[in-house]
Amino acid sequence: MSFRDLPPFRDLRAFMRFLEERRLLAHVAEPVSLVHEITEIHRRVLAAGGPALVFDAARGARMPVFANLFGTAERVAAGFGVAPSKIVELGEMLAALREPQPFDGVRDALSRWPMVRAALSTLPSLVSRPECQTERRLGGDVDLGLLPIQTCWPGEPAPLITWGLVITRPPDTEADDTAHLNIGVYRMQALDKDRVIMRWLAHRGGAHHHRQWTARGKDTPVAVAIGADPATILSAVLPLPETVSELRFSGVLRGERPRVAPALTVPLVVPADAEIVIEGYVSATETAPEGPYGDHTGYYNSVESFPVMRITAITTRRDPIYLTTFTGRPPDEPSVIGAVLNDLALPTMRRQMPEIVDVWLPPEACSYRMAIISIRKAYPGQARRVMMGLWGMLPQFNYTKTIIVVDDDIDVRDWKDVAWALATRMDAGRDTVVVTDTPIDYLDFASPESGLGGKLGLDATKKIGAETKREWGRPLDMSPNVKKRVDALWPKLSRAITGTSA
Ligand SMILES: Cc1cc2nc3c(=O)[nH]c(=O)nc-3n(C[C@H](O)[C@H](O)[C@H](O)COP(=O)(O)O)c2cc1C
Repeated sequence: MSFRDLPPFRDLRAFMRFLEERRLLAHVAEPVSLVHEITEIHRRVLAAGGPALVFDAARGARMPVFANLFGTAERVAAGFGVAPSKIVELGEMLAALREPQPFDGVRDALSRWPMVRAALSTLPSLVSRPECQTERRLGGDVDLGLLPIQTCWPGEPAPLITWGLVITRPPDTEADDTAHLNIGVYRMQALDKDRVIMRWLAHRGGAHHHRQWTARGKDTPVAVAIGADPATILSAVLPLPETVSELRFSGVLRGERPRVAPALTVPLVVPADAEIVIEGYVSATETAPEGPYGDHTGYYNSVESFPVMRITAITTRRDPIYLTTFTGRPPDEPSVIGAVLNDLALPTMRRQMPEIVDVWLPPEACSYRMAIISIRKAYPGQARRVMMGLWGMLPQFNYTKTIIVVDDDIDVRDWKDVAWALATRMDAGRDTVVVTDTPIDYLDFASPESGLGGKLGLDATKKIGAETKREWGRPLDMSPNVKKRVDALWPKLSRAITGTSA
């Protein structure tokens, strides 16, 4: 049994062909600039829900530049191998992975998902002459200038690699270890022809491995794949439990064993069918000031120091494709992916709090800074319990500054509905919760201290029991019989009213 609706995509090209056949990918023949112009075109196409874009003749580029891969929820779902309607089912499987049990317990929790258990314990297949190493530049021949690296926004200090899948492993594991590999997407500022700054935030898997290698006085071996099959890319972005390797999980998503090959100059394995692989070592001691770069908040980040990676090899397929994106004020690609991950996370949240009906993290609020939650309310105070529960139990709500709780007749994804609930079911004195000095995204410059700030809960549910002494309003609704009769009359009525048929 596999949950896939679509055939597996072995590499990025297979997925591109799939998208092109469905007119979900378009070519741009115009000679556009890598500096700002691709961002501006990408931004407009993404905002309009348009196709993935292959820039075939970007100025100065020796290869096609591919952008807007995951610019719609439909393409993200296709990357997972399913129709958009099956995302919540996929979330059930992720929820099983997250059961709070040790690793063997995780396997038990997966008894409903036999193919997941099988796939997680299957070793990736080792490819001896991988496509990703067809062209090789090692040591002194390494030159990042050969890659069409985009400069996204005005005022940025240097070109930025945005879609690199950064692969690391802990020390004390073997070079061909795949069970403990971490893959995360961390942006990289190009410093010169063989150095980049690795901007992994402190809580990321890559940064964790780096601290472990540094504690042993060693530089961290790293491989960065640019352009891989969609399951590998999406696994890198998924917040998987630490016990689950993104690489092995990509095999679960694809329904096929991941194909890997030993890197040429670092003790790691790399995705065999990647378009481009950058190998090297992230220094235990050398850092450099990174930025300012545009970020998903819609602002430039402040300049901060991150470790420097020295590149030892760049390998590519024959005629490689360079995958890129920008991050900026939503909507951007991460915010589109975030909205799909929102639905994937629903089953996990419902396991913690069964009263939860739906959750929406509006992309325009940076995908995590605000949450709107509908509940099946059964007792007084329940909305507050839900707020506390989310802030306290689920780490992904650590940085959610505002939680709005509504009843289950409100569509959390419809601002008009939410505004109506806020306007008619909430009292500013009684129904607001303000907590100060809580953990906050350090990128949030509106908080009084870096990393420490307030949270706001708005209870926009109907007040019941001891919550109110007032007679509560009854929502207006038309009787079902009348609706049915008008539905039946509608074709005729609309012809009479508008002169056209409905
Ligand atoms: C396009 C894109 C760019 C990202 N850039 C960064 C970044 O620069 N630094 C970072 O720490 N996370 C970044 N992320 C988020 C992480 O990749 C993501 O949270 C991932 O799940 C982290 O994996 P990890 O928990 O294994 O470290 C980015 C995500 C995307 C989709």
